[in-house]
Amino acid sequence: MSTPVLRVRNLNVWLSNHHIVRQVNMEVPDKCVYALMGPSGSGKSTLLRALNRLLDIYEEARVEGEVLLDGVNIYDPKVDPIWVRRRIGMVFQYPNPFPHMSIYDNVAIGPKLNRMVKSKRELDELVKWALEKAYLWDEVKNRLDMPASKLSGGQKQRLSIARALALKPRLLLMDEPTANLDPVATEKIEELIVELKKEIPIVLVTHSPEQAARIADYTAFLYRGELIEVGPTGRIFTQPRHPLTEKYLLRRL
Ligand SMILES: Nc1ncnc2c1ncn2[C@@H]1O[C@H](COP(=O)(O)OP(=O)(O)OP(=O)(O)O)[C@@H](O)[C@H]1O
Ligand SMILES: [Mg+2]
Repeated sequence: MSTPVLRVRNLNVWLSNHHIVRQVNMEVPDKCVYALMGPSGSGKSTLLRALNRLLDIYEEARVEGEVLLDGVNIYDPKVDPIWVRRRIGMVFQYPNPFPHMSIYDNVAIGPKLNRMVKSKRELDELVKWALEKAYLWDEVKNRLDMPASKLSGGQKQRLSIARALALKPRLLLMDEPTANLDPVATEKIEELIVELKKEIPIVLVTHSPEQAARIADYTAFLYRGELIEVGPTGRIFTQPRHPLTEKYLLRRL
């Protein structure tokens, strides 16, 4: 295995003094989809939010341990949390484009605020690139000025992905990105994820083992805040080593 893009060491998270993420160690290699599956309340979203310092904004959260992105500990006091969130993008369960803003501006605002482009032409190119990468360009290229609220659920989610991509992240975190989509829209996002991983590794939270089986290269099973078992997806599903993983896959947890 090549050097991991993300390495998590002894990560613990407390929310209002409840120990929610317990001593998690994980390594996310380049060019892969890494699924985090587990029952509701097992701490998947909390763990994911610890991976790009999104928990900083929660007063009740305390994080201990290390999260290394290409060897840099994102919790080092010298590291700027804004830089972290630019390098590690996040896509949420509920698509969250700014509803009154145009499709174009939704994608352009991040690069603009971060001064990533020098001219309107460069910005146009970046917006097009991100929308193409998110499989949305062909559907919206003739109506880039339309408010994002007019898009379908699946399109809004792809717009959220385009917005994250426009910042050229090193890693993408996705928290149940298809939980509110119909099967057709879900399939499209899954295809997109498999295409994107060639350039950007993805940590995908899902409570659907079927989704992990379909698209993840590695699957980790989280239970009550602990990473019970991790491995290549095929192995996890055919020969789980831990009785809790087996129980979960048999729907007995
Ligand atoms: N602010 C908070 N203070 C205390 N406990 C919290 C807080 N937010 C979440 N929790 C608890 O942390 C645990 C993990 O929640 P989390 O949202 O990370 O789980 P999850 O695995 O993502 O679940 P789901 O599949 O339902 O999204 C839950 O027991 C939840 O009740
Ligand atoms: Mg969750």
